[in-house]
Amino acid sequence: MRKIAVVGAGYVGLVTGACFAQKDNFIIIVERDQNKIENLLQGKIPFYEPGLDLLVSKAIDHKKIIFVDNLKQALNQKPEIIFSCVGTPSLSNGAADLSAVWGVVKEIGQNLTDYCLIVNKSTVPVGTAAKVKEIIKQELIKRNLDINFDVASNPEFLKEGDALDDFLQPDRVVVGVETEKAEQILFDLYKPFLNSSEQFLSMNWPSAELTKYASNSMLATRISFMNQLALLADKLGADINQVKLGMSKDRRIGSCFLNAGIGYGGSCFPKDVQALVYTGCEYDQEMSLIKEVENINNKQRLLFADQILNYFGDNILNKNIAIWGLAFKPETDDIRCAPSIDIINKLLEKKVKITAYDPVAWQNIKNIFGDKIGYANTSKEILSKSDFLIILTEWKEFLEYKPQDFACLKDKIVFDGRNCFNPLDMQDAGIKYFSIGRNSLNNFNQKICLENFCDQKENSF
Ligand SMILES: NC(=O)c1ccc[n+]([C@@H]2O[C@H](COP(=O)([O-])OP(=O)(O)OC[C@H]3O[C@@H](n4cnc5c(N)ncnc54)[C@H](O)[C@@H]3O)[C@@H](O)[C@H]2O)c1
Repeated sequence: MRKIAVVGAGYVGLVTGACFAQKDNFIIIVERDQNKIENLLQGKIPFYEPGLDLLVSKAIDHKKIIFVDNLKQALNQKPEIIFSCVGTPSLSNGAADLSAVWGVVKEIGQNLTDYCLIVNKSTVPVGTAAKVKEIIKQELIKRNLDINFDVASNPEFLKEGDALDDFLQPDRVVVGVETEKAEQILFDLYKPFLNSSEQFLSMNWPSAELTKYASNSMLATRISFMNQLALLADKLGADINQVKLGMSKDRRIGSCFLNAGIGYGGSCFPKDVQALVYTGCEYDQEMSLIKEVENINNKQRLLFADQILNYFGDNILNKNIAIWGLAFKPETDDIRCAPSIDIINKLLEKKVKITAYDPVAWQNIKNIFGDKIGYANTSKEILSKSDFLIILTEWKEFLEYKPQDFACLKDKIVFDGRNCFNPLDMQDAGIKYFSIGRNSLNNFNQKICLENFCDQKENSF
């Protein structure tokens, strides 16, 4: 049984610890937040991730995971590997804030007593592994010690909402290493997770570090590409979903991350796209494509809010608005950089009345908006009390609704930022349905064209 320390009981640290524990390793999770540890020992996970609570509780019961609140205690257990999984949020200039990473590394250097492989799992800019090695070396020199250690980069590709499957059955494991020893330790550790050794991709530090930013930026690019194309589709009478189908049957393109909508959010894409742009600036290589990906994404959510406001004009003040979905995507309660925040803020500028529903993220939104908006217990209850509905997250329970279920909305209008329903079915049910890149499919766009013509009101539906 390998002894592994995992620093940070956040999304990545907890999933990493629980999944390694499941493969018969002994895990010491280091978390500086004592409250988090106490909750975890009572089976309470600090965020919503399907299946993680069970996996963590099982590992605690089987004594495969223990929690400590500092690295010194973890190093006393002489782990063979330390995974650093601390947060790397954006600074105001777009660069990654590495203060938590440096804090961990310094503590390791101050307390290391035996060989250890120090693995960085956080998303960090190119050059971080080299600095990590240097900082630990300097700390050891201060202590007059010459202890052998290795540093590796092992970016994490899990998706919130699917984190366990992604970790337990990864498409690939990327490691950046400097020595054969480090590569072998990581290969042996990940072997039980892989179907074939070809999924284990070993490379140098900068390549591994850049792979993570490149992957997230590519996925974000696909989303922004489809969102910009959706705006054009509306003007051309095309259906973006049909266009997607036509594109995705080409195996070179595939179908993933090609849904038009109100754009990406969450704790990774926005900050990683920004960090790649920043890295480009640092190295005098303008990342113009990625910069535009971010611009398109930032605009997309505001455009959607504008379209709603423009449709109603001053009448919006008399409306009771229902919102379905607050999380940045389904199966998570994460609202970091969620389109819902910007859209609600924009609507609130007009002092509108909003009642929102989300199966798990409502409490996090309540922490931001308090009683400026109302919160419903079920998706159904707000429909009959509202004039119209706005859909911001495509939770599975929403997809189970039938078009006629929306007939109880007073105005019979649905603004769907996630393309959950078929426009023609909605039209047949007498619902005015506005979605992304499919608005020419119903005849309401004609009405809007007329409105535009009659009174100069800006309206892009
Ligand atoms: N969330 C994701 O879906 C995801 C996916 C892939 C990669 N990543 C990357 O992984 C990293 C971690 O992300 P996260 O979402 O798990 O972060 P998080 O903020 O949820 O968790 C980080 C945890 O580390 C703890 N911590 C910070 N410094 C510490 C220290 N010195 N000692 C002990 N504990 C300490 C914090 O208290 C916190 O609990 C980030 O770089 C992120 O970009 C995240």
